[in-house]
Amino acid sequence: GMKQRLLVVANRLPVSANRRGEDQWSLEISAGGLVSALLGVKDVDAKWIGWAGVNVPDEVGQRALTRTLAEKRCIPVFLDEEIVHQYYNGYCNNILWPLFHYLGLPQEDRLATTRNFESQFNAYKRANQMFADVVYQNYQEGDVIWCHDYHLMFMPKCLKDHDINMKVGWFLHTPFPSSEIYRTLPSRSELLRSVLCADLVGFHTYDYARHFVSACTRILGLEGTHEGVEDQGRLTRVAAFPIGIDSERFKRALELTAVKRHINELTHRFAGRKVMLGVDRLDMIKGIPQKILAFEKFLEENPDWNDKVVLLQIAVPTRTDVPEYQKLTSQVHEIVGRINGRFGTLTAVPIHHLDRSLDFHALCALYAVTDVALVTSLRDGMNLVSYEYVACQGSRKGVLILSEFAGAAQSLGAGAILVNPWNITEVADSIRHALTMSSDEREKRHRHNYPHVTTHTAQDWAETFVCELNETVAEAQLRT
Ligand code: UDP
Ligand code: G6P
Repeated sequence: GMKQRLLVVANRLPVSANRRGEDQWSLEISAGGLVSALLGVKDVDAKWIGWAGVNVPDEVGQRALTRTLAEKRCIPVFLDEEIVHQYYNGYCNNILWPLFHYLGLPQEDRLATTRNFESQFNAYKRANQMFADVVYQNYQEGDVIWCHDYHLMFMPKCLKDHDINMKVGWFLHTPFPSSEIYRTLPSRSELLRSVLCADLVGFHTYDYARHFVSACTRILGLEGTHEGVEDQGRLTRVAAFPIGIDSERFKRALELTAVKRHINELTHRFAGRKVMLGVDRLDMIKGIPQKILAFEKFLEENPDWNDKVVLLQIAVPTRTDVPEYQKLTSQVHEIVGRINGRFGTLTAVPIHHLDRSLDFHALCALYAVTDVALVTSLRDGMNLVSYEYVACQGSRKGVLILSEFAGAAQSLGAGAILVNPWNITEVADSIRHALTMSSDEREKRHRHNYPHVTTHTAQDWAETFVCELNETVAEAQLRT
């Protein structure tokens, strides 16, 4: 039969564009969990609507990029520099992102943030309207429109105001914080009311969904039910849909000759040392300074390990125009430099810190040779890196040290060593435990997590969400 058409709307397209000439563009895969998960979704007739990550002021460039993106089933939304500054750098990444991860507003410019709030929120609404306009241009009756993440909380309202019959879902890839945190947001009610215009609202975990429902009951005075939130007889369905990865893609990669060769090279290069790995966007939610300080404490307390272990930290540059991210970068560089100076020798340093991204095959090889993966997020919606590591450990059965504040702690908690990343003594002890763990215990822990990662796929996640959205709309039609 005819496959259902799906319009996926996210701020970040799965590919980002680089200009190579007046009408020449090259594309590369964008980084981050949202894009990874959506790339794992196959066999649906989906089109992507979003921002290609560049400013394209001229019409020649815009037409050429639109053509180039069409080959990838992507449709661009063009945002000018001022909008990107106020909407993306400002409202999304300086206000919503830290707040949703319990970090509060940036310490130093709290007052400036307060003063700029209104103009940034207005830019946010304008940007959301621009995404919605592109949806209208591409919409056909019966399409499902799936909006993603904190960038697009105003979209459900734009879409339903335009056409009440559109099927609209919204999924949040970050935590939704406790209502006690959320209620400090000046635009708290307007955003909630807009999200509630969607037919289905999804979160990674049951806790995030519960926080959202409490925010709606406490701030808007609406009724929270078992099914979702009710407003004058109209139900917005709210539920948890834990995301996953395409584990087969990782397993297949590990079988490739080029990847195997790379694995051999790495094994050779780090022979005689245990490999510990961190893979994160260079973001304050990832607890990178905390992770490195815990590693330092471990080295301090275990001098016999000094030349027998190496920490590889892949820190993917991200949101580099936001001042808080720039500060974090210099802070991390300073700590890494100090520790390498303190514990390094003429031939080796304990920390290899890379400010760059890796291609997929290099990443798979790294995951495969890693003895201990360290995920120390202070808060994290899910954290797919932890899933990817487990998927690549079929033979080595390495240990995952995982923050209890990552959504993944709820699914991988049984096999991982769970830690509070703020407690560096605890993390240092866990590093020691992981490095000295018996193969029996590693095997047992791996047996808990591996089946979870291979059966809860990105594909299932997307199918379940879209199916539930269709059912919710059908039920609502029966009721009226
Ligand atoms: N990743 C990437 N490029 C890299 C390193 C990692 O695209 O150089 C991917 C990684 O494989 C994972 C995603 O970025 O799929 C990170 O997702 P996660 O949920 O862990 O965190 P997020 O970045 O979304 O906060
Ligand atoms: C997180 C967010 C995504 C975002 C990604 C990368 O995973 O939930 O929406 O795409 O980080 O961040 P960026 O700002 O580069 O899109």
